[in-house]
Amino acid sequence: MDRYPDLFKECANKFGDNLNILSFGCGYGEECFSLRKYFPNSKIVGADISRKAIDIAKKKNKDDHIVFVESNLENIISSSPYNIIFALNVFKRLRLSRDELNKAYPLDVFENQLKELVGFLKDDGALVMKGTSHNFDDTEISKKFYCLHFDGYRRNSKSPNDSVYVNRDKYQPRRDVTIISALTPSYEKKLRLTIPTWKMKPQFSDLPVLIFTNGYDNPDKQLSYLKKYFDIKFVKWDMDGVDSIRDKMLSSFILGASKHLKTDFSVKIDADTGFINSRDIFDPSDFDYDIVGHRWGYTRPASWIIDLENWYKEKFGKENIFSYKQNVDFEKKRAIFPCKRLASFVCLQSTDFLKEISSYVDGKLPCPSHDTFAWYMAKRLEHRSWGRKNIKKLGAVNRSNYKKLNSVLYG
Ligand SMILES: C[S@@+](CC[C@H](N)C(=O)[O-])C[C@H]1O[C@@H](n2cnc3c(N)ncnc32)[C@H](O)[C@@H]1O
Repeated sequence: MDRYPDLFKECANKFGDNLNILSFGCGYGEECFSLRKYFPNSKIVGADISRKAIDIAKKKNKDDHIVFVESNLENIISSSPYNIIFALNVFKRLRLSRDELNKAYPLDVFENQLKELVGFLKDDGALVMKGTSHNFDDTEISKKFYCLHFDGYRRNSKSPNDSVYVNRDKYQPRRDVTIISALTPSYEKKLRLTIPTWKMKPQFSDLPVLIFTNGYDNPDKQLSYLKKYFDIKFVKWDMDGVDSIRDKMLSSFILGASKHLKTDFSVKIDADTGFINSRDIFDPSDFDYDIVGHRWGYTRPASWIIDLENWYKEKFGKENIFSYKQNVDFEKKRAIFPCKRLASFVCLQSTDFLKEISSYVDGKLPCPSHDTFAWYMAKRLEHRSWGRKNIKKLGAVNRSNYKKLNSVLYG
């Protein structure tokens, strides 16, 4: 049996071995036996409220470093504090309507259980949950925690409650970050809807903001009402030789940002993008990459890939990296190029990376899209790296239609 392989693998990568681990609600012990494969040198304590489950687990156990105990305060304290506490499919009541759940298992009961449990964690310990009936983010105690993004975990999970939480004090959010965005009068109505929701994310709420504008004579005056939300600097942005306003504004995220940013990182947020919860979008490990965006699976138009490959070849004399045998009809207007890449309605990027890629561009991006170009460069340049994650699942919504945007954010 190999329970939760993706999750355990990622936890082992992140937190290492030689740990003190609690499997809270371990059932018949399979969870602990599976954990052993990923943490060969750790001590594993399996605790369960069911004596029958613990008896069965004890009988099956042949491992000196796995201990099964009945779940009571004394037993759990005696091996504490723990580096990781797993509570997988424990805090739940099955097949209840919301009303029934709130009667049978109110949120404050869940919160009290968690308050007690996290008291057994080391200061830099991690709480890993799966399949909870209540949303951890709805509890007060969750504010002390930072939600890490674990790729394999979320991919297979339907529930927004499945998460890995670490102590906020130990994983201070990075402050060397500026939010950047771009604005033209046609987007202003949408930004008015979205910008208040940017503040919902504690991670973003007190960051400086840089907005590239086009179509405003005096943005400081005309857009001054936006300054009640953030400390905003407006920078007028235009590009000779670029025809479309869209392409001009997309170029600002690379060329403008590399010129005007004063922080090591920026989070780019499109003006038509808002947030529906307070969950952190970026975790400390995201800062190891040069660019991190939303998971995406193709490039359209497919011909942009050819444009980029040709440009790179001419500039650096290096061969293509993509194989064009992949059944792509490049002549077709809506043809897509199937490739793992990122979309950037919300993305994190290092300034140093933006500066480097800007230095290769002469006035105009080699393809008229910020994220396509940035992703391609992060992929091609050996010393750069890119990451992608499910940013929508973390509460970001992006709608180009005003009515839809309004209803999803406020409806
Ligand atoms: C669905 S099983 C999951 C077992 C194991 N975590 C896994 O995923 O393989 C849930 C287990 O949690 C235990 N449990 C429920 N509430 C508990 C509590 N308050 N303290 C300890 N164990 C609990 C149950 O007895 C049961 O064995």
